[in-house]
Amino acid sequence: MIGLEYDSDVVLNGRFYYQGKFQDLSVSVSQGIITRIGKFLKAERIVHLPHAVLPASTDTHVHFRDPGETDKEDFRSGTTSAIYGGTTTVFDMPNNRVPVTDYEAFESKLSAISGKAYADFGLYSLFTGSNKDLLDKRTSGLKIFMGGSTNAAAIGDLDMVATDFLRNYENPVVFHAEDASCLSAHSMEEHDCRDHNMARPIECEQKAIEKAVSFRLKKGVIAHLSFPYDIQTNYLFEVTPHHLLLNDESVNDQWGKVNPPLRDRGTQEKLLALFLAGKFSLLTSDHAPHSYENKEDFEHAASGIIGVETRIPLMLSLVKRKILSMDLFLKTACSNPAALFGLRKGMLQVGYSADFMCVDFSSEKPIDQDRLHSKVTVTPFNGYSAIFPSDVVMRGETVLEKYELIEDHLGRFISNDRK
Ligand code: DOR
Ligand code: ZN
Repeated sequence: MIGLEYDSDVVLNGRFYYQGKFQDLSVSVSQGIITRIGKFLKAERIVHLPHAVLPASTDTHVHFRDPGETDKEDFRSGTTSAIYGGTTTVFDMPNNRVPVTDYEAFESKLSAISGKAYADFGLYSLFTGSNKDLLDKRTSGLKIFMGGSTNAAAIGDLDMVATDFLRNYENPVVFHAEDASCLSAHSMEEHDCRDHNMARPIECEQKAIEKAVSFRLKKGVIAHLSFPYDIQTNYLFEVTPHHLLLNDESVNDQWGKVNPPLRDRGTQEKLLALFLAGKFSLLTSDHAPHSYENKEDFEHAASGIIGVETRIPLMLSLVKRKILSMDLFLKTACSNPAALFGLRKGMLQVGYSADFMCVDFSSEKPIDQDRLHSKVTVTPFNGYSAIFPSDVVMRGETVLEKYELIEDHLGRFISNDRK
């Protein structure tokens, strides 16, 4: 046991998953940080955490639309959904209505969302190829759209200056990998998810991934991989619950329209098999809400599926059914995403943030989209089995209790210049 005997603000008692198994433990917490892990630890305040206790999750890919499109989501509704889904930390994408390409846009985004977040949050900036000198130092990482998507034009070819800059960049660079010219070559009228899959085929994604990987960045990340792809690279791959569990046969309507598209069933099943075999490092939601007006009919619908609240509950259901191992779940949803940004979160370990979720594995039930907390809660996962956390703890304090958010706390901005 490490740490001082009387330095804790609170001791959390419960059945924690620790070193590969559930154990009855005491975790002492001082100023939000785990200071000791043991048994029967003492403190002035002792809190008993119910059910099975796991580290809380980090979601490194969300679009909370704030500012600019707060009819779709804002930082309050987005982070409320995150907490209900066992996620205490999010990294928000820069494709706002006014994309975050420079320090002015970064500052105005930060001030627009200040005081609204229940979860901790970091912010990405959009890399345009020519804005390296305009990027805010507090940015957590960069996003590159190789193919166009919501509020973001495709980046085009990068010159030497831009490539050199990216090669020396120390923080994560996340690629939306769909090749723009390949996409335009396949563009067609679309009426359902199969058409969308044909209009943005796997070959366009593969081409863009190969190009992204060829830049040989220090911390390259391929966002939302939609097909089984095993390539030798130091880049990390994100996978999303929708590409793992849905396909263009199981979903047909515009609420399943997303970029990259849902693929055919065989492709989806192989992607899931590779994920379950431990081939990918990051489980992200790519939470991308749209309004009813944006989703009116398939052809004109915007692309994007919500997911920040359902990502963990869907996976916990797979853990319960022993399809996904607990250790792989914890790596991809908790420890790897935090480590990518150098955060001491997502693990039960001395020196790490005391962020936890309490899970009653007997509480599996179908998702009811009317009970989600986004502004627009329609999801193709409606009716899918899920296990929502009953309680969530952030920095040692309970922020979700018996399935209800406690609204007296705020998340912190994770500034990259803290290092
Ligand atoms: O489906 C998507 N929606 N893919 C993206 O790349 C962007 C996202 C959004 O922001 O709507
Ligand atoms: Zn995205």
